[in-house]
Amino acid sequence: MKSCPLRIIKYLAFIIVVTVIASLFFIYSGVYPMGADTPHNKFTYWVLETLRDRSITRAASNVKLPENLSSPARLLRGGPDYNEMCVSCHLSPSKSETDFTKGLYPSPPNLIEIPDQKLNEAQRDQRRFWIIKHGIKASGMPSWAYGHDDERIWDMVAFLKKLPTLSLVQYQILTSKDDENSRHDH
Ligand code: HEC
Repeated sequence: MKSCPLRIIKYLAFIIVVTVIASLFFIYSGVYPMGADTPHNKFTYWVLETLRDRSITRAASNVKLPENLSSPARLLRGGPDYNEMCVSCHLSPSKSETDFTKGLYPSPPNLIEIPDQKLNEAQRDQRRFWIIKHGIKASGMPSWAYGHDDERIWDMVAFLKKLPTLSLVQYQILTSKDDENSRHDH
């Protein structure tokens, strides 16, 4: 029997139409669980994770690193900001869990842990800066660009680089907000 290309095309078109209708039906039906206490299924998780990761990798690769990222002055300015704005989600040597880390989905990464080493340090810094500045859609991570200029965001990046190595006492010193560390002498 000879294969008939027209029949195959019709068959494929039928499958595509059925798939589109079934997907629309599924979306409109409202059966997909949206509560933060029910994890995504593997497929949705893969789609969202890949979308997020590819997008951030692409955008962050254009970020230009400042030369003085490891300066102690940056650390001292970034510390108090971290302790004020980020600690409730990203933890500290004296805080291992909060309502946010338990209840948010996706859960905020623990930034006192050594980050995974898939990327090199420069790529991690570009990514940190981009994520702090722009935030991440459909997650608890806000954009901090409102009211915080790029320099101030780099100060937080400088602090994040050191955070996993800090003892509780070092953390307390670097995050204390005294006049010496204040932003006015920037
Ligand atoms: C209300 C909770 C919340 C607050 C406050 C918050 N974040 Fe986040 N942050 C998140 C969540 C959730 C993610 C992960 C989002 C995702 O994976 O989609 C995240 C991701 C990040 C990442 C990426 C980490 C990685 O390993 O991929 C960095 C860096 C970060 N936040 C820095 C900060 C800084 C700095 C602050 C304070 C200025 C801050 N965040 C405040 C919730 C928060």
